Amino acid sequence: MTFDSVASDPYVELARSIAKGAGELLLARPEHIEIDTKSSATDVVTQMDRNAEAYIVAQLTKHRPDDAILGEEGANSKGSSGLQWVIDPIDGTVNYLHQIPHWCVSIGLKDLNSGEAIAGVIYAPVYDQMYISSQGLGSWVIAQGVARILQVSNCAELSSAVIGTGFGYASARRQSQARVLTQVLPRVADIRRLGSCAIDLCLVADGVLDGYYERGVNDWDHAAGELIAREAGAISSGLWGNKVGNDMIVVTTPAINADLIAILETNNADSDVIGLED
Ligand code: IPD
Ligand code: CA
Repeated sequence: MTFDSVASDPYVELARSIAKGAGELLLARPEHIEIDTKSSATDVVTQMDRNAEAYIVAQLTKHRPDDAILGEEGANSKGSSGLQWVIDPIDGTVNYLHQIPHWCVSIGLKDLNSGEAIAGVIYAPVYDQMYISSQGLGSWVIAQGVARILQVSNCAELSSAVIGTGFGYASARRQSQARVLTQVLPRVADIRRLGSCAIDLCLVADGVLDGYYERGVNDWDHAAGELIAREAGAISSGLWGNKVGNDMIVVTTPAINADLIAILETNNADSDVIGLED
């Protein structure tokens, strides 16, 4: 696996230049950020999410007019090529708003026939880190101009694993996620909630985190990151033998996968069971 084979994949090349452009747009942060809410009072969207999505969609439409596009902020166009771009203009909007550097632009490309991601690019502008992957060709990060292959950690025991997770925006879902967390936390080395599913999956790919799980993430949160992690050696699935989906995503090093899945299944982590008093 060589860097050049991934970097010269035309889909990766295009997504990389668009993600960089969107990242620059987002770094030019205006003094006043307009905030709207979506599914709940904690689910925020800014004009910068919308501007970045509009920029990405315009670029994709210019270069790939026959492809479908699905975006977090409403882009949803059909295409005729059998390929679909899945984009999150800012993954980690709450971090962006609070000026916490952990946010990114995520662009994945799916083959609609197989349902599989075939290319993925994630750009974290504040860190100036570009993560890229192409199906079957491995994953790489380009950090401050230097490229490095990604490889998951060799973590072999859940008890020594640092696991990332995230929380949804609905109160009932959060209560259930907190309930599951009380069962996971005592069995792992530690938990991180960093605030961007997409970057967190890149951190699994890079062996920084040993795994990640979350209920309720959407296609745009994980389309690129799941491919990047899997191509770096991670195992990824939902629960009960299902594929990764909205119900659950679990992405880990091979050795700890079965143990983490078992805890999540035992605790019905893919449903909003409350089981806690208000
Ligand atoms: C969110 C982030 C967060 C995850 C949430 C996502 P957004 O995406 O990925 O880490 O825990 O479930 O919705 O709203 O910042 O694009
Ligand atoms: Ca997102």
